[in-house]
Amino acid sequence: MQALELLLNRSSFNQLTAPAPSQDALDNILKAGMRAPDHGSLTPFRFIVFQNEALNDLGEIFAEAAELDDAPCEKIEKAKNMPLRAPLIIAVIANVTEDHKIPVSEQIITAGCAVHAMQMAAVAQGFQGIWRTGDFAYHQHVRKQFKLKGEDQIVGYLYIGTPSKDVPIKPAKNLNEHVEYW
Ligand SMILES: Cc1cc2nc3c(=O)[nH]c(=O)nc-3n(C[C@H](O)[C@H](O)[C@H](O)COP(=O)(O)O)c2cc1C
Repeated sequence: MQALELLLNRSSFNQLTAPAPSQDALDNILKAGMRAPDHGSLTPFRFIVFQNEALNDLGEIFAEAAELDDAPCEKIEKAKNMPLRAPLIIAVIANVTEDHKIPVSEQIITAGCAVHAMQMAAVAQGFQGIWRTGDFAYHQHVRKQFKLKGEDQIVGYLYIGTPSKDVPIKPAKNLNEHVEYW
């Protein structure tokens, strides 16, 4: 797929099924994430890959978090099944250096750029994906399991897989409402 075609038609898709990207395709995705623009070369991110049984482990972590919140049974069950919505999830963590001349906000932007780059690398290889956060990107229990410290953030869970049907093309947003020429 041509880079410009990809960027001009980019969209997310949440109906994802097996097969997941092969190891080679996954390596390309991860390498694209590593190329995120990075002020000060702090490499302020960690990627945690969940596939196969690890998706159930992630579901257990989400369910434990819901249980700690005294959520009703159906919400706990829903939390447990969330990671099963795709055959591959990459949790992207902003692994920030505090008290540095590069502000934490810029380091978090870098981690966000990594998510976007990985989503695009997945699409470029024939897969689809969606960037999600939700309550379990901010929950203390999840942060603890992933060993986050201080101002680290889970910037997203990138769900990736094969689209289970044709991906609809969304209409483009109105450029004129968001662009000014000074
Ligand atoms: C930081 C961030 C967090 C997001 N979290 C969620 C989420 O938890 N659930 C969800 O359905 N979409 C979430 N989205 C939005 C989707 O990734 C997607 O962008 C949205 O559905 C619009 O679709 P599009 O990308 O095709 O325009 C999030 C996007 C960003 C940038």
